[in-house]
Amino acid sequence: MHPLPGYWSCCSLLLLFSLGVQEGVQGSPGAPSAAPEQVHLSYPGEPGSMTVTWTTWVPTRSEVQFGLQPTGPLPLRAQGTFVPFVDGGILRRKLYIHRVTLRKLLPGVQYVYRCGSAQGWSRRFRFRALKNGAHWSPRLAVFGDLGADNPKALPRLRRDTQQGMYDAVLHVGDFAYNMDQDNARVGDRFMRLIEPVAASLPYMTCPGNHEERYNFSNYKARFSMPGDNEGLWYSWDLGPAHIISFSTEVYFFLHYGRHLVQRQFRWLESDLQKANKNRAARPWIITMGHRPMYCSNADLDDCTRHESKVRRGLQGKLYGLEDLFYKYGVDLQLWAHEHSYERLWPIYNYQVFNGSEEMPYTNPRGPVHIITGSAGCEERLTPFAVFPRPWSAVRVKEYGYTRLHILNGTHIHIQQVSDDQDGKIVDDVWVVRPLFGRRMYL
Ligand SMILES: *[C@@H]1O[C@H](CO)[C@@H](O)[C@H](O)[C@H]1NC(C)=O
Ligand SMILES: *[C@@H]1O[C@H](CO)[C@@H](O)[C@H](O)[C@H]1NC(C)=O
Ligand SMILES: *[C@@H]1O[C@H](CO)[C@@H](O)[C@H](O)[C@H]1NC(C)=O
Repeated sequence: MHPLPGYWSCCSLLLLFSLGVQEGVQGSPGAPSAAPEQVHLSYPGEPGSMTVTWTTWVPTRSEVQFGLQPTGPLPLRAQGTFVPFVDGGILRRKLYIHRVTLRKLLPGVQYVYRCGSAQGWSRRFRFRALKNGAHWSPRLAVFGDLGADNPKALPRLRRDTQQGMYDAVLHVGDFAYNMDQDNARVGDRFMRLIEPVAASLPYMTCPGNHEERYNFSNYKARFSMPGDNEGLWYSWDLGPAHIISFSTEVYFFLHYGRHLVQRQFRWLESDLQKANKNRAARPWIITMGHRPMYCSNADLDDCTRHESKVRRGLQGKLYGLEDLFYKYGVDLQLWAHEHSYERLWPIYNYQVFNGSEEMPYTNPRGPVHIITGSAGCEERLTPFAVFPRPWSAVRVKEYGYTRLHILNGTHIHIQQVSDDQDGKIVDDVWVVRPLFGRRMYL
């Protein structure tokens, strides 16, 4: 059993005494408790809104109290609902997942909130409502493969978050290692660990291979992503960008339903069509999916194969994503899975399509790929193949994460932060595309 961080055991103990709740049947330490834990935010996609999600061990009401003043009473109230989640492990541990969506938030304004019910409240957290419209410059932290053990990037991400460096987080799959492990206690521990980041910033996700157990149920239950696909695929607008999150895992775990590959592909195509109609307003199309199409790591992963499934589809021809993303002029593709950082030259079908030799990322003639899976987990870092491929621009085998600054409709700034080098920026690149003519390459 994993010990709880001191903060949590003390709080649940206090609550235990104050409420006189008995030591429990749920098998979780200090439970069952009505005290909210694992508090995190997500953006439901509707301007002026934010969803708060948390866990309790007994059913309680779901309320968020919020306001603009850092201290004193919280005058605003929002109600939501909870659903029980029964983990697939032998203990069938039962969590109550609460969701409350705050609406009509003032754009760019900082709020203070707490969540819970009369039976127990969380501590107070702060977040800034996202700005509306396309004319602002979102800053994102992007990474994948962050575990409950060896979460190397987390201390710096916490500090960055406290300093207000980001508007949102993109976690590109693989959480906790694994959320279902130890009867989902590892999932609980992970969600508590990320709380200092995730309770202050919309924490946007896609599923990775480590979420696979029990048909991705821990992933679907614990996060609250936009749309009605349980967070497997969805899209949202953020400033000048349209961000598409999808599951590469549908290509690999076919026993959960082959139809999912086709359903997702059709959804992707229609979403890309819509995004292209809106491209004058939101010029950037950014995708996030866990397993990359290309990589030059020294392992046997799909991305090391010439005809990778994500790139070329099932049987090398069905529902491949490279053609689709190229056809609709996707600008930037964010990946993880490999525990390293790799940036590719603009690429399509193994051909490098630099804007020019001197400025490869200015008017690139193919999508730009970033693989950022080195946030830290128990599996540690992934080595690279000895000889870099001609399409590989930068490779960093160090723990870290990516900062993505979407400056405006034409300029994106990408930086790689190294935790091994105390926060040093180890990659720094601008992607520049003209405002018009972005619906397709050529
Ligand atoms: C797995 O979940 C998906 C939706 O999340 C569902 O469509 C599919 O039928 C499920 N598969 C199995 C075998 O339960
Ligand atoms: C792309 O640009 C980089 C950097 O200038 C250069 O090293 C590489 O050879 C270029 N590739 C092609 C195919 O032009
Ligand atoms: C975007 O920002 C860059 C860098 O500040 C600037 O050079 C460029 O003109 C801006 N583009 C638009 C469309 O405002």
